[in-house]
Amino acid sequence: MPSLTKRVPKPAKPSRKNVTVAAPLSDRILRWYDRHRRVLPWRALPGVAADPYKVWLSEIMLQQTTVAAVGPYFRAFTERWPTVGALAATPLDDLLAAWAGLGYYARARNLHACARHVAGELGGVFPNTLGGLRALPGVGPYTAGAIAAIAFDLPAAAVDGNVERVVSRLYAITAPLPASKPEIKRLAEAMVPQKRAGDFAQAMMDLGATICTPRGPACAICPVSVDCAARAQGIQGELPKKAAKKARPFKRAAAFWIVKGDEVLLRRRAPKGLLGGMLEVPSSSWAEGEIDKAAAKAEAPLDLKWFALPGVVRHGFTHFELEFTVLAGHAPKNAKPPKDCLWWPRAKINEAGLPTVFAKIAKHAPG
Ligand code: ADE
Repeated sequence: MPSLTKRVPKPAKPSRKNVTVAAPLSDRILRWYDRHRRVLPWRALPGVAADPYKVWLSEIMLQQTTVAAVGPYFRAFTERWPTVGALAATPLDDLLAAWAGLGYYARARNLHACARHVAGELGGVFPNTLGGLRALPGVGPYTAGAIAAIAFDLPAAAVDGNVERVVSRLYAITAPLPASKPEIKRLAEAMVPQKRAGDFAQAMMDLGATICTPRGPACAICPVSVDCAARAQGIQGELPKKAAKKARPFKRAAAFWIVKGDEVLLRRRAPKGLLGGMLEVPSSSWAEGEIDKAAAKAEAPLDLKWFALPGVVRHGFTHFELEFTVLAGHAPKNAKPPKDCLWWPRAKINEAGLPTVFAKIAKHAPG
């Protein structure tokens, strides 16, 4: 006889199969990095120890310059100066000329001072502590964090603009920058894993540069979109908020394009201050307001008949904008170069190491 008792299904054994345990945030970011890391000339291959010299050099170059612009300079520098000792042994003027076009020349001076210090005082070995790195010329908190993490795998954060954006979105920090910087830094530091801190620092940079971009972040393919408080609120595109900026002053000056046969007059700038020690196209004082033509001409290194070139040359510095009116003049064959000046072959103007602002003037002038 068939049994009338109903079969009661056995309760299923607990299984871990369908249970997802969320990996820590840093693990997910590292896993994403392992698949999607950018190939960059200064990056060591996976599993290969980074060269502190190359890490330091790249971080100084990247301080105010884009990854794309730094690439060729980094290759040229490391080919010409493969070690910190080689860089330290080079004259400052050669280094400054090789730096031309990267801008912010104080970085190049600090690079040289730092190379001399490391090669001379530290036996060619970079410090492997945050404090030691921070004490080097030109190394601020960001750069010290980046070198400590990337070169030595110390659990340090490298919080630049990209990383600030990622963190402010992940935690929905709505207070505006720069006041929110300390909080963002604290949160960024708390995210750093004990292991693979160097990869993690670079992963955060890559996340900021390729996924968590300023406009139109690619949240659909972001490895941490589910953790992103800003995304949950739909405000990711509005963060980080920034306090209103003051307008940059707008300055004007006359630049003097002085030609003698196939040479042009260049001047060496004062050693200290903006673009210190670099060659320049001579110019009148840079000042706000309209140019007083007579006063500007009185500042020319030679007293010549001037022809104003059509158009103007503009350049943006961090703290001000500059507009040059270019006055061209022909110097007599026997004209001696005035104080701090020299005659430079026009055909070799690209080899003068002119900072970008003056290279623009040279390009504007008739060939
Ligand atoms: N920006 C600053 N440092 C960087 C690095 N090491 N890689 C990519 N971008 C950076």
